[in-house]
Amino acid sequence: MTGGFFITGTDTGVGKTCTAIALMHALQRQGKTVLAMKPVAAGCLMQEGGLKNDDALALQSHASLPLPYPLINPYAYAEPVSPHIAGAHNPVQLAVVTRQFALLKSQSDCVLVEGAGGWFSPINSGQSNADLAAALTLPVILVVAIRLGCINHARLSQLAINQSGLPLVGWIAVCTEPNMSYQQDNIAFIGACLAVPLLGIFPYLSVVDFDFLANQLDISALGIGCPPSIS
Ligand SMILES: Nc1ncnc2c1ncn2[C@@H]1O[C@H](COP(=O)(O)OP(=O)(O)O)[C@@H](O)[C@H]1O
Ligand SMILES: [Mg+2]
Repeated sequence: MTGGFFITGTDTGVGKTCTAIALMHALQRQGKTVLAMKPVAAGCLMQEGGLKNDDALALQSHASLPLPYPLINPYAYAEPVSPHIAGAHNPVQLAVVTRQFALLKSQSDCVLVEGAGGWFSPINSGQSNADLAAALTLPVILVVAIRLGCINHARLSQLAINQSGLPLVGWIAVCTEPNMSYQQDNIAFIGACLAVPLLGIFPYLSVVDFDFLANQLDISALGIGCPPSIS
């Protein structure tokens, strides 16, 4: 069964990459061949072979198959600023991303695609992550960092995802702060507002352990492994 998911978040730095890797582990445990992309990344360092980004390198290293870096991250921008600024010299073309996604999809059971920033963060001067997810016609998973303000961000994100017509198939609560008060109350409130499956709660970890995080996931709501993409 081929398919994939678009991993978006309430913001940048909310746990999208960690969640994507934990999901990769959970799906791989079910015997699935799982690949992941970070199509657009700003904040890349020149390394052997070109500009590379930490998120994309992490996704590459946890993939079920060895993949060339540019296939995972076709748009790697040096400056750690919004892609519409960092990539002004080489703007994202959705056709390039969809072509590479199709190539990865043809080799796997599931491709996870990590967005850049949040749902409406721009990927070029005229398009946002919403356009990217729509071009890939993927069901969406929302990562919510449990911190002050997260209820508003989660509800706004859901509204915007719904507006795109793509299904929001689940959300994940990531406790990126060690001592937030009323963490469970916030998670329960968001769960009631979103009313889509809570796929997992990631507690605060001083050292992130992907196997542990995969154990916190219940991906049964996603269907057997991955559903087909919705095109
Ligand atoms: N469960 C967790 N506990 C503590 N820190 C976390 C947890 N999950 C993620 N982080 C940290 O939060 C930061 C942002 O996570 P990341 O997955 O890179 O977010 P994003 O991809 O949304 O930018 C990273 O420093 C990461 O190590
Ligand atoms: Mg990331």
